[in-house]
Amino acid sequence: MKTATIQVNKSYKIGKISDRMFGSFVEHMGSVVYNGIYEPGHPTADGRGFRQDVLELVKELQLSVVRYPGGNFTSGYHWEDGIGPKESRPVRVDPAWRQIEPNTFGLNEFMEWTREIGADPIMTVNLGTRGIEEAKDMLEYCNFEGGTTWSELRKSHGIRQPYGIKTWCLGNELDGEWQIARKTAAQYGQLALETAKVMKWVDPSIELVAVGSSARHMSTFPEWDRIVLEHTYDHADMLSLHHYIGKRENDTPTYLAMPMEMERQIEEVIAACDYVRGLKRSNKVMYLSFDEWNVWREPDIEYTPWQIGCPYDWVKFHMEDALVFGSAMLTLLRRADRIKIACQSLLVNTIPMILTEKGGKAWRNPTFYPFLHVSRYGRGEVLQSLVETPKYDTAKYTDVPVVDPVAVYNEETDELTFFAVNRGAEAALLKLDIRDFTGYAFREHIVLKHDRLNAVNTSDNPYEVKPQAGSGETVDGGRAEAVLDPYSWNVIRFQLNRS
Ligand code: AHR
Repeated sequence: MKTATIQVNKSYKIGKISDRMFGSFVEHMGSVVYNGIYEPGHPTADGRGFRQDVLELVKELQLSVVRYPGGNFTSGYHWEDGIGPKESRPVRVDPAWRQIEPNTFGLNEFMEWTREIGADPIMTVNLGTRGIEEAKDMLEYCNFEGGTTWSELRKSHGIRQPYGIKTWCLGNELDGEWQIARKTAAQYGQLALETAKVMKWVDPSIELVAVGSSARHMSTFPEWDRIVLEHTYDHADMLSLHHYIGKRENDTPTYLAMPMEMERQIEEVIAACDYVRGLKRSNKVMYLSFDEWNVWREPDIEYTPWQIGCPYDWVKFHMEDALVFGSAMLTLLRRADRIKIACQSLLVNTIPMILTEKGGKAWRNPTFYPFLHVSRYGRGEVLQSLVETPKYDTAKYTDVPVVDPVAVYNEETDELTFFAVNRGAEAALLKLDIRDFTGYAFREHIVLKHDRLNAVNTSDNPYEVKPQAGSGETVDGGRAEAVLDPYSWNVIRFQLNRS
C-alpha cells in the first residue's frame, strides 16, 4: 500500500479560518430561487413560499454567508423591482440568463430567508447598467436608520430596523464579454472607486469587495486585478476571485489534479494585490473574497429560455466531482491567511449542493458532503503541515500529490481534524504524527467513496453516495494511522480526552 505522512504541531499555524469561508450563493438564475428555495404552493412551502424541505437541508450546512442576487443577473437588475407589495412588482426580461423575472422574491424575502438559516447576506450592486446612485439608494434602503426617502420606504414595507448589511460587492465579473455592460479595467476601476467612496460616506461600517478577474484564463488576467486595485486599493476591503473546475477530457487523474490550478490562481492574485500594496507603500493588506467557486459538469436537463424557474445547469454531480470539490475546499483552507470569504456557487439547482423537483422532493448532491464536513469540523486554525506523499504526473500537471490533506486545530473545542482526498486508484496508508497533541484520542473517521466514480444521487435513490465510517485506524503514543480508500474523501477526527 502507498504511504503518506503528515506531521503537525500546535503552534505552527497558517491562520484562523474565517467563519465566512463557509458561504454559498443564491442568484436569480434558473431554478435557484423560483422552484428552488422559493416555491409557493409546494407541499412543504410556508406562508411566505419558502420550501421547508430545502430549508432543512440548507440549515445542515451551517452557512455563514450567502451572496445575492447575482452573478451576471445583477448587471441588469433593478433592485427596486423586488420590494413592496408583490402585486405591484413588475415582471421583467432578464437578458443575462434569458429568463422571465417575476420579482415575487426580492431583497426583503431574501433577508427573511437568510435569517431563517442563520447566515449573513452579501449584497451585490449593479455596476453594469447602473451605478453610484442606485448603489447608494439600495444601501440607504437597507442600512439607513430613518428619516429619508429610501429608509422610510423600508419602514413602510414593515422593516422598522435597518438591516445593517455589512458586506457589499461592487458589481460582478465586469471583465467578461458575457456580462451586461462589460467594462475595461480602467472604466470599472474608476466606477468602483467612486461608488465605494459614496457608499462608505453613507455607511462607514460596511466593507466592500472589488471585482477581480472572473477567471484565470481571461486574457486580461492578472492585469485587470492590478489596474482595478490601483484605483480602489484604499477604498475596497477585498478583491474577488471566481473559479469553476470542469472535467475537460475523460481523464480522472487530470481532473482530480485541477484544484492545483486554483491554488496557482490564488497565489497570482495575492501577488497582484501585494504588488499594488508596494506601489502605494500601503500598510493595508488586501484580502480575498472567493465569492464563486465550484466544480462544473454538463447539465442533465436542457435549458428552456424565457421561463420562470426553468432548471439551468441542473447537474447531478458524480462521486468523482465530490472529490475535486473536496480538494477545492482544502485549497481554500490552505490560504486562510488571505481568503476571508468563500461562496460555493450555487446552492440549489444550478451546479448545486441541493437538488429539487418542482412540486416534488429535495435531496443532496454528493458535493453536499465535503462542504458539510468542512463546515462542521473545519472551524479553527489551519496548521502548517509537513506532508510527504507519493506524487503522479499527467500531461498537464506534474508532481500531483496522491494524498491531499489539510489539518485544522480548534483550540476552543480541543479538536484536531484531518481532511484528506485520496486521488489514487489504490488505497493509501496515511500516517499522522500528532505527538504535539498529548492526550488527544481518535474520535471518528468519515469516508465518502463509491465503487463507481460516476455514481450519483437521484430523487428515487438520494443516498447512493453518502458518507460512511472509515476503517483501519490505529493510535499509539501520538502516532496514528488511517487507511484512505481508493478515490475517497476522508475526515479523521481527534479530540482531547478529558476523562
Ligand atoms: O454560474 C453562476 C454564474 O457564473 C454567475 O452568474 C457568474 O458570476 C459566473 O460567470
